[in-house]
Amino acid sequence: PLVTTGELVTRAAAAHRAVAALNVVTLEHVEAVVAGAESADAAVVLQVSENAVKFRLGRLQPLARAAVAACERAAVPVALHLDHVQSDSLLRQAADAGFSSVMYDAAHLPYRENLAATRAAADWAHAQGLWIEAELGEVGGKNGEPPLDAHAPGARTDPAEARAFVTDSGVDALAVAIGSSHAMTTRTASLDHALLARLSGALDVPLVLHGSSGLPDDELTAAVAGGITKVNIGTALNIAMTGAIRDFLTAHPEAVDSRTYLGVGRAAMARAVAGIIRVLG
Ligand code: G3H
Ligand code: ZN
Repeated sequence: PLVTTGELVTRAAAAHRAVAALNVVTLEHVEAVVAGAESADAAVVLQVSENAVKFRLGRLQPLARAAVAACERAAVPVALHLDHVQSDSLLRQAADAGFSSVMYDAAHLPYRENLAATRAAADWAHAQGLWIEAELGEVGGKNGEPPLDAHAPGARTDPAEARAFVTDSGVDALAVAIGSSHAMTTRTASLDHALLARLSGALDVPLVLHGSSGLPDDELTAAVAGGITKVNIGTALNIAMTGAIRDFLTAHPEAVDSRTYLGVGRAAMARAVAGIIRVLG
C-alpha cells in the first residue's frame, strides 16, 4: 500500500534502523523498486528528483500517477518522496501528485539564504501535511557525470550550525555531508564516523545520507548503526540496470523488441534493490 514517508522514517528511527529511499526515473524503475522491496519484504521510499522530472519533459504527473498506482498495489508499504527540489513550482505540485514528503534543496546557498528559503518551504509543506527534509553542508556531485573532483567528498556539515538550522527552519529531517558524494560509480567513499556521532548527538531529527551508492556495504551498515535513518540510493540501481541491458544487447545484437532488454534491466534493478535492503538490515 501507499503510506507516508513520515511514518516509515519515524518507525525506522524508533527501531534504530534505516529505510532505503530509491530514486526512479522510468516506469521500469518504479516496477523494479516495488518488486525488489516485495522480494525483500521491506517498506521503502520511492523518490523522484527534480532532475528526473526534467528528464520527463518537465512534467511530474505522468510518472507520479504511475508510481501512485504501483505503490497502492504493492504488497509492502511504499511512500512517495519528491527529491532535491529547488523549484518552488515543483514543490507546490507535491501534495496533489500524491507525494507525502519533499526534500527541499537550497544547500548551495549561503547559510542565511538556505535557512530563509528552507523555512519558507517547511512552512508551506507543513500547511499541506507534507514531511520535509532539507540539506546543510552540500553533498557534492549532484548534476551527474561530473569530473571526479566535483564529488567534493570533503564537504562537511557543522553540528552546531545544523542544530540551529533544524530549530530555526522547522524541518523534519536533515541531509548531512559526512563524506558521501552523489553519482559515484565506484564504492570507494568513506564516512566521517566521528562527525556522524556528533551530528546524531546534536540533532533530534532523523539524519539522511545522500549519495549512498558510493559506499561499500560495511560503510552503509556503519552509517545506519551511527544514526542514519534514510539512505538515498540512485546510481547503484542504474549501474545494475544499465549493466544488464548492455550485456543483453551485446549477447543479442539482433534484439529489437524493447521489452527484451528493458525486462532484463528491470529484473537486475529489482535484485539490486533487494540487495541494498538486506545490507541495511
Ligand atoms: O537523492 C538521491 C541520492 O542522494 C542518490 O545518490 O545516485 O549517488 O546513490 P546516488
Ligand atoms: Zn541526493
